[in-house]
Amino acid sequence: MHILVTGGAGFIGSHTVVELLQQDHQVTIVDDFSNSSPSVLDAIKAITKKDFRFHLLNVSHSEKVDELFKSNRFDAVIHFAGFKAVGESSSKPLAYYYNNVTSTILLAQACVKYGVHKFIFSSSATVYGDNKVPFKEEMELLPTTNPYGETKAMSERILLDANQAHPELAVTLLRYFNPVGAHPSGLIGEVPSGIPNNLMPYISQVASGKREKLFVFGNDYETPDGTGVRDYIHVVDLAKGHVAALDNLESGAHIYNLGSGKGTSVLELVSSFEKVNGIAIPYEIVDRRPGDIAVSYADASKAFDELHWQTERNIDDMCQDTWNFEKNYQQK
Ligand code: UFG
Repeated sequence: MHILVTGGAGFIGSHTVVELLQQDHQVTIVDDFSNSSPSVLDAIKAITKKDFRFHLLNVSHSEKVDELFKSNRFDAVIHFAGFKAVGESSSKPLAYYYNNVTSTILLAQACVKYGVHKFIFSSSATVYGDNKVPFKEEMELLPTTNPYGETKAMSERILLDANQAHPELAVTLLRYFNPVGAHPSGLIGEVPSGIPNNLMPYISQVASGKREKLFVFGNDYETPDGTGVRDYIHVVDLAKGHVAALDNLESGAHIYNLGSGKGTSVLELVSSFEKVNGIAIPYEIVDRRPGDIAVSYADASKAFDELHWQTERNIDDMCQDTWNFEKNYQQK
């Protein structure tokens, strides 16, 4: 298949492109490098020894999207491109709504207009809000506490409605839990801009000496050790989940959680990182971060039953591959 991957130079996008190329799919990446860099494209080539097409393009630009579809024949779209900083979304709501929602509408419109019949969307477990764990696909979505989460919920709604009105456009929404880790080659991984918002990149920068210590946001949650519990998923497992979703997408509209089904606390992740990599991670307990929930983990059984997909990499693998990438990246 010829697959358009938007945001294909980003963290999850680049790992997915690697898996797609390794399955002999033809890939066209579009990215505007707003949160990634051209060197990622070379790294993808180095890992796969395969070629792909690339267009420097912002997918919330109507004429550019139309031109792209007019001059290419795609079989499927995997839409990753979007702004993703939860905190920033509250200070720049208009930019987040405009960028994330417009791109989804334009790509879906182009699929309908140019006869592309498969659309896979990069959604997030954040749409579950503070539901009861484990989160299941059929749960009623609860309001999220930030515009970023709302853009994911809105995009989901738009794509489900598009499928209703245009049944020839099959849609799969993938709700990611907490993606971490990096490709075992150490050539691609997560490169946060500025101070990392997320836990694993922050731990990794403490390990490298770039940050003095980790701030643990609260130890008074109702969890076994009082710190927040999340369902961490290795980015390579997540990427393979996209290939499974694509292989199984024929018609209709589908929603899958992509997670491990297991919860890990902040302190458990820290101690796993320390053990696997032999590096101490100093930390300080501080106040809770506004908007955080206590516990989030998936019921991952639907993806297993229908896509025959499940995670294969554990927390230790995630910590090892994260640090392997960080070391490699520091040397550049
Ligand atoms: N945490 C810290 N210190 C930090 C960063 C995080 O203690 O410096 C804690 C948080 O309080 C939370 C846990 O580590 O308990 C995980 O936090 P992350 O910021 O890594 O991840 P979140 O679960 O808050 O959010 C992530 C993505 C969102 C996505 C969500 C889906 O950032 O985009 O998962 O569940 F929507």
